[in-house]
Amino acid sequence: MNDTDPALLYPRHLAVLRARADEALARSGHDHLLIPSGRRHYQAFDDRDYPFAVNPHFKHWLPLTAVADSWLAYTPGQRPKVIYLQPRDYWHVVPDAPGGWWVEHVDVHVVRTPEEALPLLPGPAARCAILGEANSALGDYAPNNPAPALDYLHYQRSFKTPYELALMRMAQHRAARAHVAAEAAFRAGASEFEIHMAYCAAARQDATEVPYQNIVALNEHGAVLHYTELDRAPPTEPRSFLIDAGASHCGYAADITRTHASDHGGEFQAMIEAVDAAQQAMCAAVRAGADYRQLHLDAHLALMGVLREFGVLKASPEAALATGVSAAFFPHGLGHPIGLQVHDVAGLAASDRGGSIPRPEGHPYLRMTRVLEPGMVVTIEPGIYFIDMLLDELKGDGRADSVDWARVEAFRPYGGIRIEDDVACTEDAPENLTRPAFAA
Ligand code: GLY
Ligand code: MN
Ligand code: MN
Repeated sequence: MNDTDPALLYPRHLAVLRARADEALARSGHDHLLIPSGRRHYQAFDDRDYPFAVNPHFKHWLPLTAVADSWLAYTPGQRPKVIYLQPRDYWHVVPDAPGGWWVEHVDVHVVRTPEEALPLLPGPAARCAILGEANSALGDYAPNNPAPALDYLHYQRSFKTPYELALMRMAQHRAARAHVAAEAAFRAGASEFEIHMAYCAAARQDATEVPYQNIVALNEHGAVLHYTELDRAPPTEPRSFLIDAGASHCGYAADITRTHASDHGGEFQAMIEAVDAAQQAMCAAVRAGADYRQLHLDAHLALMGVLREFGVLKASPEAALATGVSAAFFPHGLGHPIGLQVHDVAGLAASDRGGSIPRPEGHPYLRMTRVLEPGMVVTIEPGIYFIDMLLDELKGDGRADSVDWARVEAFRPYGGIRIEDDVACTEDAPENLTRPAFAA
């Protein structure tokens, strides 16, 4: 089967979503599934709207990310109905007429005002599972988000269809191209702001289109996990560059981090290469049956091995993990599910009937605790950082002897290292979605 053309893969994707919707409706006891695409949000006391973020359930069914006040209606046994708002509006560009690979597989009804959707919705409203935000309500049709349906659909969403994997691969290519442009800008001495602009230009996406705010951090800024400030002036001495930036394709996210050193022969470059090698081994462990919590703990040990090799850590990796010293250098989770949302739903879900799998004690930021199964896509994003606040805590509470502080000082000016790829679990060897996009 052709695994690259979304048009050929879409019918099978739609069949999977219909089957999931049948089961979700059986569980919640409703007759129809209704998904509003979402309504615009406005700033308080202002007529400025926020960037439109489509309901992820809607873009699961349809590759539409910019169509507000529209609906997907599904009744078991019938073709899905799409109520598509194409307003009469001379202030804004209106959405194109419905077109693309999805159109022939659904019944499309174009409406000119949001209210015109009302008589087209299946009823009565009380018989509908309506998934969406409260502000999407139309008449009696207010989102009720029944938990049995949502628990089921969110859990199942972890299992990507071949159509979804094809779109995710395309997002990777867009992001990889932009990462290459960003590295070139760094090497040319650009500021964070200029690198960000070079990234967006190469991705051909602006800041509202990429799936999360770009993290473009030079030097010590790499130690701020979510650094999004974008200095307008370049530093006098650019030493290091951490970039965590993605791209979107038809509503699917790529989430990629790379770290670069300006000095190819230096110690920081050597540490990047050691983290990269460790990260590749972690990616190779994305196998069906692997417990992601264990992968996270294994990552702590591997990263502490790197810090020992570079003389930063004096304790053993096992001792550093047990005493929490490792969390001062690696204070976030190994990764998370990714797909329609960069941090996709159900990373902690215990089953498709609800419940959650707790994080390991002492690891409050892990976003994925499930056992891996074929079809899941997760990020693998280990990091080593030199964060004053966390290191000061080690100094102050009796764990100072685990660390060679002179070596910390040597690395502090570089901020930190994170390497992040998106990896699909299969029946067999994992598919790293990210690396081939850089090689292409
Ligand atoms: N870019 C956010 C993350 O890596 O999770
Ligand atoms: Mn990231
Ligand atoms: Mn990530």
